[in-house]
Amino acid sequence: MFITFEGTEGSGKTTQINHLANKLSDACYSVQNTREPGGSNIGDQIREILLSPANEKLSATSELLLYAASRAQHVREIIIPALKNGKIVISDRFSDATVAYQGYGRNLDLVLINHLNQIATDGLAPDLTFLLNLPVEIGLQRASISRGKLDRIERESLEFHERVQDGYLAIAKEDTNRIKIIDATQPIDVIFNEIWSILKVKISLIKVNHDH
Ligand code: TMP
Repeated sequence: MFITFEGTEGSGKTTQINHLANKLSDACYSVQNTREPGGSNIGDQIREILLSPANEKLSATSELLLYAASRAQHVREIIIPALKNGKIVISDRFSDATVAYQGYGRNLDLVLINHLNQIATDGLAPDLTFLLNLPVEIGLQRASISRGKLDRIERESLEFHERVQDGYLAIAKEDTNRIKIIDATQPIDVIFNEIWSILKVKISLIKVNHDH
């Protein structure tokens, strides 16, 4: 099973992913926790280029291709082998982030992005995606408080982050079966309970399909 978490900056994905990985491990599932950009050693090097505030000259197209390159490596080196080993893979961001950030945020062509995602993922799509939804101002404030400094993308304008937010909500509307919107203004444990109850249903559905 392949689960992804998405959301604008500071939406609390990492906290929820850690909780979820622990809970699944306690329930005797084998879990692979990963993230994008990055996840693989090569992907982590690409992540450095993408997020370094020094790289302000990086063009939107180069940015798009680097996210796709990181994903292509991540899918082939980490995700597919882990899924083949029967693990539950949880990724902090995946293809939807490129649609939201490079498509809606940077205004790059959505048809082209979908095609590129198809190439990068080799057609792999998450079984379930949690979209943690939080007003962008609150998230950016949280991100700057918790990490002290902002990366190249976090430094973008409020308008950019609002377009990303709109993008995520638009994507979620198109695929309500896969993407579950979670109100991330709620307390951490309330958010987690919501995630857990959705996931439990999904796991039992997958088991039923598998057993038949
Ligand atoms: P993170 O802060 O959640 O680790 O994500 C890194 C940044 O990269 C975040 O600002 C979102 C951005 N991003 C994109 O712009 N496009 C993508 O395809 C991905 C995966 C992340």
